Order: sequence, then structure tokens, then C-alpha cells
Amino acid sequence: MVRLLPYLLGVLAAALLAAAANNTHLNPTIPGWHSDPSCIFVPEWDDTFFCATSTFLVTPGMPIHASKDLVHWRLASHALNRQTQWPHYNTTGQSDGIFAITLRFHEGVFYAITFFASDGSNPLPPGLLFKTTDPFDDAAWGDPVLFQSPNIDPDLFWDDDGVPYMTAAQSIISTIDLETGALGPATQLWNGTGERNPEGPHIYKKDGWYYLLIAEGGTEVNHTVTMARSRNITGTYIGFDGNPVLTNKDTDEYFQTVGHADLFQDAAGDWWVSALATRSGPEWTNYPMGREMVITPATWTKGEFPVMSPVRGSESAWKLPMSEDVSGTGSIYGTPDVFDFAPGSAIPSNLLFWRWPDANSFTVSSPGHPNTLRIRPSPDINSGINPISLITRLQTDTLFEFSIDVAFEPIDLNEEAGATVFLTQAQHIDLGIVLLSDNASNSPTPHLRLRTTGSGNLGTATPPPVIHSIPTWRGPVTLTIRANNDTHYTFSATPQGGTVHDDVVLGSLPATIVSGGTGPFTGALVGAYATANNGTGTTLAYISRWRYTGIAQQIDNNTFVPSW
Ligand SMILES: *[C@@H]1O[C@H](CO)[C@@H](O)[C@H](O)[C@H]1NC(C)=O
Ligand SMILES: *[C@@H]1O[C@H](CO)[C@@H](O)[C@H](O)[C@H]1NC(C)=O
Ligand SMILES: *[C@@H]1O[C@H](CO)[C@@H](O)[C@H](O)[C@H]1NC(C)=O
Ligand SMILES: *[C@@H]1O[C@H](CO)[C@@H](O)[C@H](O)[C@H]1NC(C)=O
Ligand SMILES: *[C@@H]1O[C@H](CO)[C@@H](O)[C@H](O)[C@H]1NC(C)=O
Ligand SMILES: *[C@@H]1O[C@H](CO)[C@@H](O)[C@H](O)[C@H]1NC(C)=O
Ligand SMILES: *[C@@H]1O[C@H](CO)[C@@H](O)[C@H](O)[C@H]1NC(C)=O
Ligand SMILES: *[C@@H]1O[C@H](CO)[C@@H](O)[C@H](O)[C@H]1NC(C)=O
Ligand SMILES: *[C@@H]1O[C@H](CO)[C@@H](O)[C@H](O)[C@H]1NC(C)=O
Repeated sequence: MVRLLPYLLGVLAAALLAAAANNTHLNPTIPGWHSDPSCIFVPEWDDTFFCATSTFLVTPGMPIHASKDLVHWRLASHALNRQTQWPHYNTTGQSDGIFAITLRFHEGVFYAITFFASDGSNPLPPGLLFKTTDPFDDAAWGDPVLFQSPNIDPDLFWDDDGVPYMTAAQSIISTIDLETGALGPATQLWNGTGERNPEGPHIYKKDGWYYLLIAEGGTEVNHTVTMARSRNITGTYIGFDGNPVLTNKDTDEYFQTVGHADLFQDAAGDWWVSALATRSGPEWTNYPMGREMVITPATWTKGEFPVMSPVRGSESAWKLPMSEDVSGTGSIYGTPDVFDFAPGSAIPSNLLFWRWPDANSFTVSSPGHPNTLRIRPSPDINSGINPISLITRLQTDTLFEFSIDVAFEPIDLNEEAGATVFLTQAQHIDLGIVLLSDNASNSPTPHLRLRTTGSGNLGTATPPPVIHSIPTWRGPVTLTIRANNDTHYTFSATPQGGTVHDDVVLGSLPATIVSGGTGPFTGALVGAYATANNGTGTTLAYISRWRYTGIAQQIDNNTFVPSW
């Protein structure tokens, strides 16, 4: 015992030191729908981490998120920020558009390579390669180099001789000319362990081995990360005995669907893994925020495959000095939206459109209407490939409050403006001011209407609309959407100058309506819209006092923590 004591003390001290040297890392690292993350660490840009996430039909697309500490994030830029770069968004599928991106940095240039999925309406090659030498400037991203990608999820890898390789899903590799997009002969590297959808490939070179990392099992509850390696880039790749290297499949964890990973190092050389995950529990029915971005630490010993920590809401991870000192546009993520659309201001950089917007449909502080966002209605928001009059931000918090003031005096029957929780054109919940024929007076009267389109994972019929006549309400109406728990949204309206006493609570509706269904790869947006509902209305709506405040994040069964 006496002789053991120094040893035990040593073990204890080492454990304490290790514990002291660790941070607690919370997931999702970037909450809200941020799918298919791909991350790099760039010493040349002031030791900054950059990650890209997929955006499907939402524009601006391909956000580049920047951080110094993997905790505080700011938008660096959008690689796809101008309609002229890629106008071909007229595809009908609600889950089409910009699929997974691989983000890489090589000899001073940032590369964001992706695949545009469409219903056949896109006449051009689907592989898109965007480049920039300044990731903090939208305008510095050029038009994409197009390439005939044989599959989704293209990866970029440079071998030691400088030759670049593109590897698409099903691990189909070829050399790629980064100027012309021309591809060399294709070779298939590995089928994975035999699960479906071997996709999301990334290649790394370490200790004389080429490591191939892929996702398998589909991006649902069977999602896994598996690896293989080879001494030669084109094979033969031998799968790792310890596969999968990362998954939450067949567990009862709150975080599910863990997969589509990427590996990167920090300044100290410690390894990290980015991946997507869904906060759904094993039931996997209620997950309005869809596939979110998580980060977990890894150790990668020389000559071995990496060991990745399983994804949890709270993890012990490599210590990084905390820093909010990161460049970029807009606020540190998690800062509440307090948008007043002051004259001369731009539309805030975190606000998003569905396909490219009609520029004439959104006007900040139009003449005579300072401190408003004017929305010109689209004929419909539920159908068609034309721009729709919808402006949103991501739901980024389990519990949150979103509100806008809406000044709208409808003239034509059925024209409507309001606040929405929106997953796709086929699945959304709208709280609108709408002109309806009053049953009592038989005359057109403004009404509040809470209306659901589609039903997603609700598993029953679409709930019927709730209608409330507001003939005496004058001036802007505050429309509020609040998530008081993780399963429901509550919709309410307050007249101008009204107090809590005047609130009309239209109802609460389940978040399963905006989970799954026609938007299996994306997540809920909250925002404002104006529509003629296929009628003839063209009345302008004026939105003001846009507010979004995150309240809490659920990070495990029964565990809520304040939003970050
Ligand atoms: C610190 O984090 C690393 C990376 O996850 C892990 O391997 C190690 O066990 C952690 N140490 C402690 C004491 O938790
Ligand atoms: C969609 O856009 C492409 C150009 O990108 C065009 O060739 C095609 O005709 C359009 N399809 C429809 C249905 O508008
Ligand atoms: C993958 O599976 C297909 C179909 O069985 C087979 O033709 C192909 O050779 C396999 N590829 C590799 C790299 O093993
Ligand atoms: C997951 O795998 C199980 C077992 O193979 C299968 O029954 C289930 O349908 C799969 N789920 C999904 C969403 O792919
Ligand atoms: C790697 O390529 C070389 C040259 O083509 C070949 O001789 C060798 O057998 C290959 N090794 C493996 C593991 O495939
Ligand atoms: C979390 O709660 C769900 C029910 O909502 C349950 O199925 C699951 O087993 C729980 N997981 C843990 C780790 O307790
Ligand atoms: C008028 O009554 C019908 C039948 O009850 C109902 O469906 C409709 O929503 C009512 N319209 C308004 C504006 O309240
Ligand atoms: C969640 O909130 C809704 C709306 O207030 C309520 O109907 C439901 O019972 C709540 N669920 C739980 C588990 O408290
Ligand atoms: C508008 O018309 C289109 C085409 O008929 C239809 O798909 C869509 O559901 C309609 N929108 C509304 C709000 O009824």
C-alpha cells in the first residue's frame, strides 16, 4: 500500500490535470438546421476554423461559418450569394438544391465543392466548385467551375504531388482539373461495410496511409461513419475492423442520425470531428430543427484509425481558449434578432429566402414607411417554382420566441400576410391576417387565421384552420410564435397598443407538422410572408419589429440549458 501510494497519487494527479485541461463542449455546436458539415482549420487565416453546411433551396446558399474556439461562431460569407452565380433553382422537389459541401483550403485558396440536385430542370452539369481567396467577403467568391459529378457529395483531396482528386458518393474517385472541371478516369474505391447509401466521402493522408471516411445507412437513424485505408490512393482500400467509427444507431440517445463526418485538427494538433445529428430521441418523429451540426473530439494515433467520442449534448473535449474575436458579418450566433429595418440598412445576413427572391418583393424602409420591411405578395407560397414572398431565419433553439409587427390592410378576398413556421412549400403553419367573407355580416372582413399546410410526422390529418374576426383592429398587429416546450408552437396575436389582456391565442400546434415529410433533409424556418392565395390581391404588407430570442436548448432527455 505504502509503495502503491505515490503511484495512486500520480494517477490521481494525472486525472485531475487531464480534467482541468478539458473543456465541456455542448452540442449541437451550431444549433438549428445546419446539415452535412465540412470543417477545416486554417492557420494562415489567424488560426480560424471554417465550416460549410448544405442549404438545399434556401438562399443565400452555402454559408461559411467561422470560429476561433468551436463555441462562438459568426457567418464569414455565403459561397453562393448572387443569383448570377447559379440561377437554376427552378426545380420542383422540396429537398432539391445544394446538397453536401466539402470545404478545403489549399495554397491560399478556399474551395467549396458541392452537387446541385434537381428534377431535371437544370441543363448544366450538377457538380459545382466555388473558390475564393477571402472567405470573409461574399463578392470574392467566384462563379462555380462546373463538373460532371458522377454522384452527390463530392470531396476534394490533394495528394503529395499536388494532384487534386474529386471523390463522390459510392467512393468514385477521379482527378479533377480545378480550372476547367474536367475529370480523369473514374475508379470506385470501396462499397463500405454493406449498409445502404455509402456517401459523404472524405479522403485524408496520414502516416503513409490514405484514409477514406464515408457515411452509411442513410441519413436517418441508421446513419454511421465508417473508414477504410489503402497505401495507394486508388486502392485497394481495406475496411477498419472497428467500424463504425462513429454512430448513435441502435441507442436510446437523444441525439440520433449521427453521421456525415469530417476530420480536422486544431492549433495544438488535437483532432476533432464534425457531423450532423438530429435531436429526436430514438422515436425520431419530433425534430423540427432537422439535421444540426455537432462536433466531437477524436484521438488519432500514428498508424491507427481514429477513435471518435460518441456524440452527446455535453462532452468532455480538448481545451481551446475561448474567443469571440472572430471576423465575419452579423452577430455571434445565438445573439437575439432585434431588426428594425432602419432606412439605409441592408437585409440582415442571417435572413433567408426560398429559392432566389424577387428583389422587388422585399424593400427596407420604402418611401413613407420608415423602419419597415415591405413585402410584395407572391400569387401563392404553396406551389410553383417562381420566387415566393417569404423571408425567414432558422429556428435555432428548442425553446424560443419569435414576433413581428404586421401592418396589412387587405382589399381583395383571401390575400394574406403574417408569420410562419416553414419547413417546405408543402409543410408550414401560418398565422396570418387575411381578408375573408364574414359569415355574420356577409362582407369582406380582416381575420386572424392559423392555418396548417401538410402534416409531416404528425401522423394524422392536417389540423383544421382556426379563424378569429378582427373588424375593429387598426394598425400593426404583433404576431408571436413561441415554443414553450419541445413539442408545440403557440401562436398568438396582439392589437396595436394592446396588452397581454388583449392577446388572442389562436392555438398550439405540434412541431411534428414541420418534422420529416417533404423536408427530410432540412429544418424549420420562422419568418414573414405575404400571399394572394391564388387570388388577385397585390396589397403590400409592412413588417416591423422583427424579434427572435432563443430561450433554451434541449441537450438530453429532460435536460434543458440556456440557449447559446
Ligand atoms: C479530455 O478530452 C479528451 C478528448 O475527448 C478525452 O480523450 C479525455 O478522456 C478527456 N479527459 C477527461 C479527464 O475527461
Ligand atoms: C429552369 O431553368 C433553366 C435554366 O436554368 C431553363 O433552361 C429551364 O427551361 C427552366 N425550367 C422551367 C420549367 O422554367
Ligand atoms: C462494389 O459493389 C459492386 C456491386 O456488387 C461491385 O461491382 C464493385 O466491384 C464493388 N466495388 C468495390 C470497390 O469493391
Ligand atoms: C434501420 O435499420 C433497421 C434494421 O436494419 C431497419 O429495420 C430500419 O428500417 C432502418 N431504418 C431506416 C430509417 O432506415
Ligand atoms: C500500390 O500501387 C503499386 C504500383 O501500382 C503496386 O505495386 C502496389 O501493389 C499497390 N499497393 C496496394 C496496397 O494496392
Ligand atoms: C429518452 O427518452 C425516450 C422517450 O422519449 C426514451 O425512448 C429513451 O430511452 C430515453 N433515453 C435515455 C437514455 O434515457
Ligand atoms: C364560415 O362558416 C364556415 C362553416 O362553419 C366555416 O368553415 C368558415 O371558416 C367560416 N368563415 C369565417 C370567415 O369564419
Ligand atoms: C407543450 O405545450 C403545449 C402547448 O402549450 C401543451 O398542449 C402540451 O401539453 C405541452 N407538452 C408538455 C409535455 O408539457
Ligand atoms: C394555389 O394553386 C396551386 C395550383 O393549383 C395549388 O397547388 C396550391 O395549393 C394553391 N394554393 C393555395 C394556398 O391554395
